[in-house]
Amino acid sequence: MSSECSFIKVSYVIFFGLILAGLWAAFIWVMLGKPSSVCPPSVTPPPSSAPSTPTPTHCPCLNNGICQNGVCFCTDEWKGEVCEIANFCNSSTSVSLTFDRILIGYSGYSKEECEENTANAGIPKATRRCLLEAGVLTLSEPVLMDCNEGLDRLVEQVTNATGDELVKIASNTQMLTSQPEKLTVNNITTAADIANRILTRAKGNESEMAAVAAVTTISQLLDAKDAAFENNDVAIVAKSLTETLEAFSLENSNNITGVVQPNLAVQSLTVNSSLMQGVQFTALRGENDTLISKRIEINSNASNLIMDRNAEVQIFLNFTTVNNTDGQLGFVLYQNDKFFRSRFYSSTIKMNRRVISGSFSAGVLNSIDLLFVPNYNSSGISFYDYACVFWDYTLSDWNTEGCTKTSDDDKILKCHCNHTTNFAVLMTFKNNYKYSKPLEVISIVGCSFSMAGLLITVLFYIITRKSRKQILTIMLVSICISLLIFNIIFVIGINNPNPSNMTKSSMSRDNNQLSTDLYIKPDKGYCTFFTALLHYFLLATFVWTLLYAVQMFLLLVLVFSYLPSYFTWTVIGFGWGVPAVIVAVTLGASYRINNPLNYRQEEFCWLAALDIQGKFDISKPMLWAFLLPMALILLCNFAVFVCVLIRAIFKKNSKLTSTKRSSYKKKLLGSFSIAIILGISWVLGYLMLIDHRESQEVFSYLFCILNVTQGFQIFIFFTARSKTFRKSVSSAFSSLSVSNIFWHSINFDMKRFKTTSSRETYKQFEPSTTSAFTSTST
Ligand SMILES: *[C@@H]1O[C@H](CO)[C@@H](O)[C@H](O)[C@H]1NC(C)=O
Ligand SMILES: *[C@@H]1O[C@H](CO)[C@@H](O)[C@H](O)[C@H]1NC(C)=O
Ligand SMILES: *[C@@H]1O[C@H](CO)[C@@H](O)[C@H](O)[C@H]1NC(C)=O
Ligand SMILES: *[C@@H]1O[C@H](CO)[C@@H](O)[C@H](O)[C@H]1NC(C)=O
Ligand SMILES: *[C@@H]1O[C@H](CO)[C@@H](O)[C@H](O)[C@H]1NC(C)=O
Ligand SMILES: *[C@@H]1O[C@H](CO)[C@@H](O)[C@H](O)[C@H]1NC(C)=O
Repeated sequence: MSSECSFIKVSYVIFFGLILAGLWAAFIWVMLGKPSSVCPPSVTPPPSSAPSTPTPTHCPCLNNGICQNGVCFCTDEWKGEVCEIANFCNSSTSVSLTFDRILIGYSGYSKEECEENTANAGIPKATRRCLLEAGVLTLSEPVLMDCNEGLDRLVEQVTNATGDELVKIASNTQMLTSQPEKLTVNNITTAADIANRILTRAKGNESEMAAVAAVTTISQLLDAKDAAFENNDVAIVAKSLTETLEAFSLENSNNITGVVQPNLAVQSLTVNSSLMQGVQFTALRGENDTLISKRIEINSNASNLIMDRNAEVQIFLNFTTVNNTDGQLGFVLYQNDKFFRSRFYSSTIKMNRRVISGSFSAGVLNSIDLLFVPNYNSSGISFYDYACVFWDYTLSDWNTEGCTKTSDDDKILKCHCNHTTNFAVLMTFKNNYKYSKPLEVISIVGCSFSMAGLLITVLFYIITRKSRKQILTIMLVSICISLLIFNIIFVIGINNPNPSNMTKSSMSRDNNQLSTDLYIKPDKGYCTFFTALLHYFLLATFVWTLLYAVQMFLLLVLVFSYLPSYFTWTVIGFGWGVPAVIVAVTLGASYRINNPLNYRQEEFCWLAALDIQGKFDISKPMLWAFLLPMALILLCNFAVFVCVLIRAIFKKNSKLTSTKRSSYKKKLLGSFSIAIILGISWVLGYLMLIDHRESQEVFSYLFCILNVTQGFQIFIFFTARSKTFRKSVSSAFSSLSVSNIFWHSINFDMKRFKTTSSRETYKQFEPSTTSAFTSTST
């Protein structure tokens, strides 16, 4: 019950606190072997080697062709050995219509558009196609558009239309769908319906143009908005379209051998029974993601799949004709899988999954071999596994039956199947996480200072607890303890102890169905555990600063002379309970063992904040489980602070002397400033962790400075400024100066204090230790 006793303890504590802080710093210095400055410069990461500039080509490639290993890769507009041959029809005018260059096989649209006052305002007035007929480039006659025609009316006419009418309907549908991004679900269903009917009816040479227009329409529909294909009506019409296209590719009553449009290629082939062992279809890689006739190749006398290094998709059909009848082969290649919406395979990565169908009529199919070269945007993700699948019309989904994987190279995916239909490979990727680097010395130093300040403060408050109200000690100790534990866990556990980059791509031999395109490693638990602890203790710190402010509000603004006895327990329950509830709710709402990344990040152990594209996601816990509560608490703190200031200016509180009031104000200011600094410094800590560039160093310096400041602030505001502390220190120093040999006389000094000068010292700081918080009951 003696203050002089606590004073001695305080001296002890400060002494050991400083020694601890010193040891800690020394430990870090030794461990990391850094030069001894307060914030030693951190090691700059080696500059990432800039991608080497492509070696200059010496090929005489013309027209921007690129030379690779002595071979010219031409742009879409040119072809030939050195890209000298035009692959387009030049810009043209016809009557009052003007057309740009049109690539061979494609349709071009007039620059003139339907007038503003027509139903189809903004849609091109005419279309024409560029063809290569017997080696001569020809432009078809422009087909004009009826500017007041609508898809709904065209679909009614298609059943009874013949010859030219059919061509007209097909071309109008094609023009009406020439701006696919504007199409509604209804428009898509209707247009697909028209195309479907035209292709079913397109028999004989007179309907060739109509069939080409229909294929072009479908290709354009594949550019429509992704969301439209989730509609059930669209799914139904898409299914029948894929079946019609497959049948159409087998049709030998028309002489169309190939239609290649940007998103869709259809090839038919009559096979002579005497020659063939197999037929191979190849789509070569190009400068962009569209199909073009010059990049579609057919080898009708192949004995097995001959891999082309520049292929994007290859399919090889091995069959035997029977009874010497000619067979009919058909290929359909889709640039994306919008017509094939899977319910089981969820995709989050934006990439085009090609779907190819190879079909065969008359004869016995032996096998099909497929080759896909994935063309994903490789930044941020890397290949993990794949599955060879076909579209099962009865399941309305992908199925792996009858197909096997025949490749263990993640650059070239090969499949082998024993039946025909629409094939694809489903791929799954894993994120290439940029794991946070181990904490820099400077951050650890910052944390250490903070920890030392906190430790001293906690011990000081515990030792001198008799000199103030119990509730105040509880609050201050709670703030410091939660922040101290947070600091310790931060230093130990912020870096993910289990980086999944270590597990290499483990492609399985079995052709297992995949359920997602993003592989997420099941949780090992450590990182989640640390995240939950960090979350809890940081929230607890903020909640306790709030409680501190609330208490100040009650005492200074509402002028409670004393607080009810249950207040203490309410405060303790609130201070430690509310953060626990928030953490529990967050875990319950967002954490699943198979998908921990909805709760935490993989890069370091903290709450998840970003979506898969790296954009801030408001559904992730970072916002609602941390930033929002933190912002609310800071706001409350600020409000209390303002209230107290206003009160201090306008009202005189008779119960409190001006010195005491100013002491509270200072304490409140301290608490508020700590909350702010806390907020800022951990935001910086966060930036330091997510940033992988040079600026990271700046963040770690700022983090260090603020953390040091924070530890210092806590020490100054709550410990060093208190009179008890100052008196203790000055007495300690005077006593130390008396005893010249510090190390040996410390015990003696303490004894001396205890026995002789006790009354004196007690009296000396009696007035300052009794405050309004000293309970009136004792
Ligand atoms: C597409 O649908 C909208 C409304 O469903 C309709 O107003 C518009 O005319 C349609 N577009 C075409 C090209 O038919
Ligand atoms: C279409 O075929 C018919 C015979 O089936 C022939 O008389 C006609 O000239 C052909 N038309 C064209 C444009 O080839
Ligand atoms: C297809 O072309 C061949 C010759 O190239 C011709 O004999 C045949 O009549 C054509 N068939 C149709 C349906 O036009
Ligand atoms: C088809 O290939 C075989 C061997 O691969 C060859 O003997 C045969 O002459 C080829 N036939 C034609 C028409 O090229
Ligand atoms: C990958 O995506 C980024 C952003 O969407 C783009 O800038 C970049 O060109 C893409 N790279 C490839 C190879 O497609
Ligand atoms: C394809 O292979 C599967 C087993 O892999 C077998 O069950 C199925 O009957 C085969 N289908 C055909 C058409 O051979």
